[in-house]
Amino acid sequence: ASTLGAAAAEKGRYFGTAIAANRMGESDYMSVLNREFNSLTAENEMKWDALEPSRNSFNFATADRIANHARSQGMKLRGHTLVWHSQLPSWVTNLSANDLRSAMNNHINRVMGQYKGQVHSWDVVNEAFEDGSSGARRNSVFQQRLGNGYIEEAFRTARAADPNAKLCYNDYNTDNWSHAKTQAVYNMVKDFKSRGVPIDCVGFQAHFNSGNPVPSNYHTTLQNFADLGVDVQITELDIAGSGSSQAEQYRGITQACLAVSRCTGITVWGVTDKYSWRSSDTPLLFDGNYNKKPAYTAVLEAL
Ligand code: XIL
Repeated sequence: ASTLGAAAAEKGRYFGTAIAANRMGESDYMSVLNREFNSLTAENEMKWDALEPSRNSFNFATADRIANHARSQGMKLRGHTLVWHSQLPSWVTNLSANDLRSAMNNHINRVMGQYKGQVHSWDVVNEAFEDGSSGARRNSVFQQRLGNGYIEEAFRTARAADPNAKLCYNDYNTDNWSHAKTQAVYNMVKDFKSRGVPIDCVGFQAHFNSGNPVPSNYHTTLQNFADLGVDVQITELDIAGSGSSQAEQYRGITQACLAVSRCTGITVWGVTDKYSWRSSDTPLLFDGNYNKKPAYTAVLEAL
């Protein structure tokens, strides 16, 4: 196949991108996006601050434009993200424990209800673990007020809100099997599976750079999680660098996903280097002029 989406589909996978609603008027951006990708994730538009800027007052218009675009193009839609410490409006951080619990459940219910039947996978909880060697929970407002149980509560609420959506836990720096954070997330998923807490997938953000390179044991990590009985997805892939070294890292990631039958898809975190959130890097598959980079060719060859 001659596009990322079509090549991935031949392997029973999707190949997606993050989309920014404020770029949807740019014809080059949209033509590459429509041609190459068959799954979309809103880069910011489905985050809590965008959807519920004040309590129980929801703003779906911009996110709906993305959802409608996916539907009109026959693309899948990933939901990102329901419970996260970042891009969280300040009203949430000022609530008592009881109010925070009901606000969290209400947010999950309303947002998942809005996109019920359309989102194939939701990042129910994002980035709940600390970096570093402790393997500890991140000290977020959810953790502080609600304790360890907030994650499973979020997943149980999410299951009831849209029983057909796959429910994912999503995080970064969980790529290297020997890292404490990877082990901490693995142990949580193992515990959830053993106790029947509803979880279907683990998202690996996969933001790589020289300080956080693609690990040589990446395939092991993906396979070990899959062996717990969850799908794995690469959800926000970008790799700093350029040329053939960047291309070979992209190739390796793609091969690692294809080697794991439960690795169901890859999403890159943007269409073009021009609009990458990592503004001082060139971490994506198309350059600022929408030319295909060596990384693009390596991914297409690997698929
Ligand atoms: C980033 C967006 O790309 C930026 O536009 C925004 O300013 C900050 O968030 N982990 C995540 C994503 O889960 O939501 C983040 O996206 C990147 C890191």
